[in-house]
Amino acid sequence: MRDQNKANLNIDEFREIFLKYTQKAFHLLPKLYNPQILDIGCGTGVPTIELAKLTNGYINAMDINSKDLRKLENKIIEYGLENRIKIIQGSLLNYKFEPLTFDIIWAEGVIHIIGFKRGFKACHKILKKGGFLVLHETIKGIQDYINHLSSFGFILYDWFQLPDNAWWNEFYNPLELRIKELSQMNLNKNLRKEISRYKKEINMVKSNPKNFNTAFYILQKS
Ligand SMILES: C[S@@+](CC[C@H](N)C(=O)[O-])C[C@H]1O[C@@H](n2cnc3c(N)ncnc32)[C@H](O)[C@@H]1O
Repeated sequence: MRDQNKANLNIDEFREIFLKYTQKAFHLLPKLYNPQILDIGCGTGVPTIELAKLTNGYINAMDINSKDLRKLENKIIEYGLENRIKIIQGSLLNYKFEPLTFDIIWAEGVIHIIGFKRGFKACHKILKKGGFLVLHETIKGIQDYINHLSSFGFILYDWFQLPDNAWWNEFYNPLELRIKELSQMNLNKNLRKEISRYKKEINMVKSNPKNFNTAFYILQKS
């Protein structure tokens, strides 16, 4: 068995490969001066930190998961972004933001968890008029809602699909290779648990990668 100290799995390293798509989506927005941004379901903040690099605006980073938010807090300190990013632990559905607060709401991989109808309603209320809701979701999951956006008070401003099978080719396949490497090592209990969770995800995506094709949708509050 190899050295246990070297056995770690940093998912953010794999997630960061997708920042090129976050950048592409951001550049589709019109130029906004010092935008007020809400990053919902920010997790460990891979897109959050990127947004802080892409804009001179102010970001509220919200998630319900305290462990992920602690990781984000360390990154904020590491990058010296304490004055630009505020962490909020809570749910979009319960938190009382002032209406008409945000220029941009960024939501990668979270609105399907919250529920599209409830998510759209909550975002509509706190976006300024003409503000943008940027979603990254599976095409299969969101398509019906995209066809009925006007009933939620949005128009489709722009969108693009990630390459076919991007999640398999660029995330889960490299992750599977890393997990194979780790299986040669002596792993602690927590890491073994984490790996078994990811193995389930890997098998799901591997069996039908097209189901996991995703797209960015830029919605504008009408
Ligand atoms: C798939 S992860 C995406 C994380 C991050 N946006 C990214 O793209 O790397 C979804 C995140 O949404 C968070 N989440 C789920 N329900 C939420 C809610 N009601 N309010 C805020 N965040 C929520 C989860 O805790 C999780 O961190």
